[in-house]
Amino acid sequence: MAERENLANRGNRLSRSALKDTAVALTVAAGSVLLAAAVAAALMGWHAEEMRTIATSIGLVVMVAAVGLYSTQAHQRRASDTALRNVQARVGGIVESAMDAIITVDQSQHIVLFNAAAEHVFGCPRDEAIGAPLAWFIPERYRKSHPDHVRRFGETGSTSRRMGAQRIVMGAQRIVMGLRRNGEEFPIEASISQTTEHGHIFFTVILRDVTARVRAEQDLRASKDELRELASAAHTVREQEKSRIARELHDELAQSLTSLKMDVVAAREELSPQQQSLCAKMVAMQENLDAMVAATRRIAADLRPLMLDDLGLVPAAEWLAESFTQRTGIRCAFSVDPPELDLQEPHATAIFRILQESLTNVARHARATLVEVTLDGSGEDVVLRVRDNGRGFDPAAPRKAASLGLVGLRERTSLLGGEITIEAAPGRGTVIAVHMPLQSTVAAA
Ligand SMILES: Nc1ncnc2c1ncn2[C@@H]1O[C@H](COP(=O)(O)OP(=O)(O)OP(=O)(O)O)[C@@H](O)[C@H]1O
Ligand SMILES: [Mg+2]
Repeated sequence: MAERENLANRGNRLSRSALKDTAVALTVAAGSVLLAAAVAAALMGWHAEEMRTIATSIGLVVMVAAVGLYSTQAHQRRASDTALRNVQARVGGIVESAMDAIITVDQSQHIVLFNAAAEHVFGCPRDEAIGAPLAWFIPERYRKSHPDHVRRFGETGSTSRRMGAQRIVMGAQRIVMGLRRNGEEFPIEASISQTTEHGHIFFTVILRDVTARVRAEQDLRASKDELRELASAAHTVREQEKSRIARELHDELAQSLTSLKMDVVAAREELSPQQQSLCAKMVAMQENLDAMVAATRRIAADLRPLMLDDLGLVPAAEWLAESFTQRTGIRCAFSVDPPELDLQEPHATAIFRILQESLTNVARHARATLVEVTLDGSGEDVVLRVRDNGRGFDPAAPRKAASLGLVGLRERTSLLGGEITIEAAPGRGTVIAVHMPLQSTVAAA
C-alpha cells in the first residue's frame, strides 16, 4: 500500500518536473525573441547603444534563469532517479526474499523474473530459468491448454485472480500442478496478475508449493474413510450378533421354557387331590415360566425384532410404535407412504435403529403426549420424520459426555450418504428428519 503511495507521489513529482521543463523552454524562447528583437534594433542603428545594453542584459537574465532552472531540474531529476532506484531496490528485495515463488513472463510466456523461492521450489537456477518458456514448469498434459488460460485472463482485463478455480486436482479445489526441473510433479496454489509496460503485457504468477498440505488432507480423508468403514463394519457385525442372539433366545430358550411349562401343566394334572401343597407350588412354577418366556421374548425383540428380518421394516416399525405406546402411555401415530414400502438392507436396519433411538429419547426426555412418525419412500430418498409435542431442547447446547444417541443417529445417517436435521427449541417440541438416498453405495447395517 505504502509502496503504491510512494509510486503515486513519484508520478506527481515527475509530472511537476515536466511542467518545469516547459517553463524553461518558454523562458528561453521568450528571452531569445526579446534578445533577437534588441539585436535587430541595434543592427538597424535604432538607439544602437541602448539596444545593445538591453540585448546584453536580457541575454544575461535569460542565461541566468535558464541555468538556474536547468540546475534545479537536474537536481530534481537526480533525486527522483535515486528515489526510483530505491523503490526498485526495495521491491526487488521484497520479491527476492518472498517465501512464495514469483515468476514473471512476457507476452510470449518466456520468463523474465524468477525469484529465489522459485529457484528453490522448481529446483532450477535463475540463470537457466530466465528466458526459458514457462512450459518448462508445467506438466506435459497441461501445457497445451495453459497459454490459452493465460491469454483468456489477459483478455479479461482484470488485474489479478486465483488460478485453477474450476479445476479439482488431487481431491482439492483450486490446486494446479507444477513441474520441478527433475521431472517431479507437485501441487501448487497460485494467483496470476498482469501489468502493461510500454505497451507490453507481463504476467506475474505467485505460487506456493502445497505438497505437505495436500498430503495431510489426503491422509485425513483416508483416515476418515477408514473410520467410516470401520464404523460401518462394526454396525454390521453388531446387528448380525444381535440377530443371532435374538433368534437363539426366541427359538431355543423361549421354546424350551414353553415346553417345560407344558410339562409342568401335565405333571400338575396328574397330582392327586391329597397333594394340594405340591399343586400350589406347580402353579407358581407355571406362572414363573410364563414370566420367563415373556421376558425372553421381550429381550430378544429388544435386541433385534425378528420381524425386521422376517417381515421387513414397516411391520417392525409399526410394532415398535405400538410397544412404545404400551410402555409409555404416549400416543404414537405412524404413517407410511407407500403402504407396501419394502426397504432393503442396510437402509431398513438404519431407519429402524434411528426410529428406536428417537422414540427412546421421547420417552426419556420429552414429556410429550403425542408422537407422529412418518416414513416416506415415494421419492428418490427415504424420509423418516419423528415429531413430538414435548418440551424440546437446545440442539446447539454442548453435548453431555455420556449422551451418544444423537451422535449415533448422525453417524448412521452419514454412513448411508444421508442427512439429518434436528429442529428443536425449548418448549416447542422436537422434529427429527432423516433423508437417506436409496442409491447409496456405502454398506452399513
Ligand atoms: N425428543 C427430545 N425431547 C427433549 N429433549 C431431547 C429429545 N431428544 C434428545 N433430547 C435432549 O438431547 C440430549 C441428547 O440426547 P442423546 O440421545 O444424544 O443422549 P441421551 O438420550 O441423553 O443418552 P443416550 O446416549 O443413552 O441416548 C438428551 O440428554 C436430551 O436432553
Ligand atoms: Mg438418547
